[in-house]
Amino acid sequence: MVKLSAACVFFAFAASVGAAPASPSVSAAESEATVAFASDDPNYTLWNENSTNTPEAIRGSLGTTVIGPQNVPIDLENPNLLAPPTTDAGTIGNAKWPMGLSHNRLQTGGWARQQNEAVMSMATEMAGVNMRLEVGAIRELHWHKTDEWAYILKGSVQVSAIDQNGANYLGTVSAGDLWYFPAGIPHSLQATADDPDGSEFLLVFDDGAFSEDATFLLTDWLAHTPKEVIAKNFQTDISAFDHIPAEQLYIFPGVAPSDDAQAPVSPQGTVPQPYTFKMSQLPATQLSGGTVKVVDSRTFPVSVNTAVAEVTVEPGAMRELHWHPTQDEWDYFIGGNARITLFGSTGNARTFDYQPGDVGYIPASYGHYVENTGNTTLHFLEIFKTNIYQDISLSQWLALTPPALVKAHLNISDELIASLSRSKQVVVGPVASSS
Ligand SMILES: *[C@@H]1O[C@H](CO)[C@@H](O)[C@H](O)[C@H]1NC(C)=O
Ligand SMILES: *[C@@H]1O[C@H](CO)[C@@H](O)[C@H](O)[C@H]1NC(C)=O
Ligand SMILES: *[C@@H]1O[C@H](CO)[C@@H](O)[C@H](O)[C@H]1NC(C)=O
Ligand SMILES: *[C@@H]1O[C@H](CO)[C@@H](O)[C@H](O)[C@H]1NC(C)=O
Repeated sequence: MVKLSAACVFFAFAASVGAAPASPSVSAAESEATVAFASDDPNYTLWNENSTNTPEAIRGSLGTTVIGPQNVPIDLENPNLLAPPTTDAGTIGNAKWPMGLSHNRLQTGGWARQQNEAVMSMATEMAGVNMRLEVGAIRELHWHKTDEWAYILKGSVQVSAIDQNGANYLGTVSAGDLWYFPAGIPHSLQATADDPDGSEFLLVFDDGAFSEDATFLLTDWLAHTPKEVIAKNFQTDISAFDHIPAEQLYIFPGVAPSDDAQAPVSPQGTVPQPYTFKMSQLPATQLSGGTVKVVDSRTFPVSVNTAVAEVTVEPGAMRELHWHPTQDEWDYFIGGNARITLFGSTGNARTFDYQPGDVGYIPASYGHYVENTGNTTLHFLEIFKTNIYQDISLSQWLALTPPALVKAHLNISDELIASLSRSKQVVVGPVASSS
């Protein structure tokens, strides 16, 4: 209907040109109109996870009811998949992985579950692990081929490490804080007694194929080394190693470390750049629709391959339309509800809904927004495999482009163009309702 009326305008315009070729009322802009106008109709999310109606595959006059089997809780959580906005088109891979769908590795004292390329093929640059340790529980001494970045979700964790020069490190981090271990640096993690529940945290690795089940563990190595070699290595008798574990421990119970625990004094000193960062103590930047905190190698020097933006978005507000020039984005949703549309060029676009505990993924350069679709604060992390955080704001781009050029593309009013902010808004508030 809308398309038809736009076509009518076009034909009327063409006819008038035909009748009066030199008409001075035909502006240059009008003579360049080549395609129909986009519909004015909104494409709101049609229901949310708390709706009581059975969700149906219906948007306006399109679609119809589901009469076969239906997983109602899944459909309630994913309205923009069952009844997508009609602006979605083409093929964009899956960009949502709830950690609740991952295999969970249950151990005495904790658990760990992961998202990697095996479950979300688009996520080639980064993989994530969600790990839980009870008070005193230890993720054993280990190393791996990728860099490890972490964000504490709850509780406190004491970490230990040494570097290639024999400098060592011991540090404790709490909810909202980070740690970072470069590839190959051996380390351990242990929940402290600061929180009676111990700790839970998020780990992000700079390789989409990373598997938490393929790390190099102290106990696994020694269980696969001839005993006489171990004895020779430590210059002692084989009997000294009578009681080492026959297989890996991975996560196991332990006694919580004391607050004043110290690492042995290293003749090589402590590591030049600390492996932890108290991001929780960094003030957030206040924005019209929420807050943002960015931490990358400028503030946390050892974090040379991971940058994070911790974002909050108030109900009705939105992380503005933007993209990241060359960095894929790995998202983790901590609180609230969101929808994101990934624009992948060539007319391809797909919309996903997210809940707490979900992982999202947005390839480099894909245009996107993150809208709060719930009525509580949306809290999420944008994580990038880069040393310096970067983004391009659509609104700022248009504000800093010659207005005539913007008008020639979008045919929006001069007033609107003049009102565009020349600095990034990052998170915009709801539109003030017009009477
Ligand atoms: C621009 O919008 C006006 C209505 O505001 C319309 O009359 C005109 O045809 C449009 N021009 C182009 C080039 O689309
Ligand atoms: C959704 O958006 C499309 C494209 O802008 C529009 O044609 C349609 O009418 C909108 N509303 C619904 C309910 O589909
Ligand atoms: C649904 O209810 C839960 C619990 O009250 C709340 O956390 C969540 O934000 C709600 N979802 C939406 C989309 O409002
Ligand atoms: C949350 O929002 C939904 C609609 O999005 C509404 O039905 C519900 O009443 C709201 N709940 C609260 C506590 O505001």
